[in-house]
Amino acid sequence: MKIVVLTGSPHHPGTSEQLADAFVKGAIEAGNEVYRFDAGRRTDEFSMIKLEDNHPGQEVAIEPNDIVTNEVMPKLLAADMVVLVSSLYYYGINAALKAVIDRFYSYNHDLHGGKKAITLVSGYGQEDAFASLNLYFDQLLNYMRWNKAGNVLAADSWNEQKLAKHVAEAYDLGQSI
Ligand SMILES: Cc1cc2nc3c(=O)[nH]c(=O)nc-3n(C[C@H](O)[C@H](O)[C@H](O)COP(=O)(O)O)c2cc1C
Repeated sequence: MKIVVLTGSPHHPGTSEQLADAFVKGAIEAGNEVYRFDAGRRTDEFSMIKLEDNHPGQEVAIEPNDIVTNEVMPKLLAADMVVLVSSLYYYGINAALKAVIDRFYSYNHDLHGGKKAITLVSGYGQEDAFASLNLYFDQLLNYMRWNKAGNVLAADSWNEQKLAKHVAEAYDLGQSI
């Protein structure tokens, strides 16, 4: 399978980064082709969505060297599976991941359907702190008509033993692809 992994945290070494690393290791070992874009650490390489004044549906041209246009989007369009990786920031996803998702707008039609999706999430709080983030991902995947193929939720992420267990889960999930 062609897998695109999008991460959003700016933090290195980070807890969601560990989930992504483990998933990617497992998925590659299982023979998949993985493209990974760490949006949170590469924010100077892409732009937020820009819309025409008075034409809210119309995107303004993005800089020609924008990596989302030139590299991430072609990989996403060709992907069989999309893996969205975020830490819990103010009850939502990382801003850089959201900025990349907003850039789906011009490609909405072509991105819809025909893909599987996995979410990997970490955060300091207990499971109930993730309610709005979980709902967001469920609604997004439903809207994109991407079939959910698994998820890892690493609550209480500062607890090293618990985190290690979730990192192992992410590795197993990658290997199962
Ligand atoms: C800007 C910011 C916002 C955060 N917001 C929340 C939050 O709303 N709820 C929570 O439980 N933890 C919150 N945290 C803690 C992170 O979720 C936690 O440290 C997580 O392990 C970070 O993962 P990362 O290292 O992959 O970024 C926040 C941390 C930061 C830096």
